[in-house]
Amino acid sequence: MTNGSKKVAVIGAGNVGATCAFVLAERKVGQVVLLDIYEGFAKGKALDMSQGGGVLNYDGRITGTKDYADIANSDVVVVTSGFPRQPGMTREDLIGKNADIVSQVGEGIKQHAPNSVVVMVTNPLDLMTYHMQRVTGFEHSRVVGQAGILDSARMTHFIAQSVGCSNEDVQAMVLGGHGDTMVPLPRYTTVNGIPVSQLLSDEEIEAICQRTASGGGEIVKLLEKGSAFYAPGSAAAIMAEAILEDRKRVLPCSTYLSGEYGMDDIYIGVPVVLGKDGVERVIELELAEKELESLQGSGSFYKEQLSEILGY
Ligand code: NAI
Ligand code: 2OP
Repeated sequence: MTNGSKKVAVIGAGNVGATCAFVLAERKVGQVVLLDIYEGFAKGKALDMSQGGGVLNYDGRITGTKDYADIANSDVVVVTSGFPRQPGMTREDLIGKNADIVSQVGEGIKQHAPNSVVVMVTNPLDLMTYHMQRVTGFEHSRVVGQAGILDSARMTHFIAQSVGCSNEDVQAMVLGGHGDTMVPLPRYTTVNGIPVSQLLSDEEIEAICQRTASGGGEIVKLLEKGSAFYAPGSAAAIMAEAILEDRKRVLPCSTYLSGEYGMDDIYIGVPVVLGKDGVERVIELELAEKELESLQGSGSFYKEQLSEILGY
């Protein structure tokens, strides 16, 4: 049975939003509302997913809408509305267009779901998460971004392939911004407790780190139209589930830093405890000098963009 007392809204019924809504429905976490500017698109996908319940054995309410009144009382709002990148574009090329969409969506959330926790997905992720917090005025802990689960899952997959083991046994860690400056951390990556450095050579690990950092671009190039969505949509659903069910999951997320890791007034990917109140704790890992430098370098890059392009 679906948890009928919980409600999650997914804004944007495109590739990532629809995948996220589908995973949430399958995991029976609560009532799902899918909102898009194109009403029929949201309604059609919601109806299709509702009918899928008869195949995969889930039920509960999945509805589509373009009306923000329908997201009232949502515990979590996942924001996927916005343009995806196309071949040749960086995530940062999307700033202008997507900032306007985030402003509009943020006003809707502020008015209709003022007590929700917001999970951002729209790119460029760390900048749009910062922008959403400013638009809503929610506590920083109630606005959090999805990227680290996806980036770590990519690293996990590449390690599992190289070692020849199950994805399930790999725990990878990727911090920093969701872009070219992300910081894969092999020192915090294990295969069922075994440091990855005991299973793969330095060269193999370095190649995996590089492929992880350009993992989104690899898929954009292959698709030729739009960007990845199965893994990203599932990752956002896992964050929503952790909040809805107060799971206290330890996950890398884009979170607000006020002094941690020597950074201030910025959203960037670090491990946090995620529960019903959103980010309940920021975990500060002990980093080697070079690792910290890379993380702070990623932070500086986004700080510059916040001020130069978004005017913060
Ligand atoms: P998509 O084009 O398939 O879907 C976007 C949807 O947003 C469309 O259905 C569109 O009608 C809707 N939309 C546009 N403006 C809206 C508004 N003002 N209100 C409500 N809905 C609106 O794109 P896709 O592939 O789903 O990607 C969505 C976003 O997620 C992109 O910005 C993409 O770059 C980002 N993304 C982020 C990832 C991450 O790890 N953080 C991973 C993958 C994608
Ligand atoms: C990704 O990493 C485009 O951010 C998206 O796949």
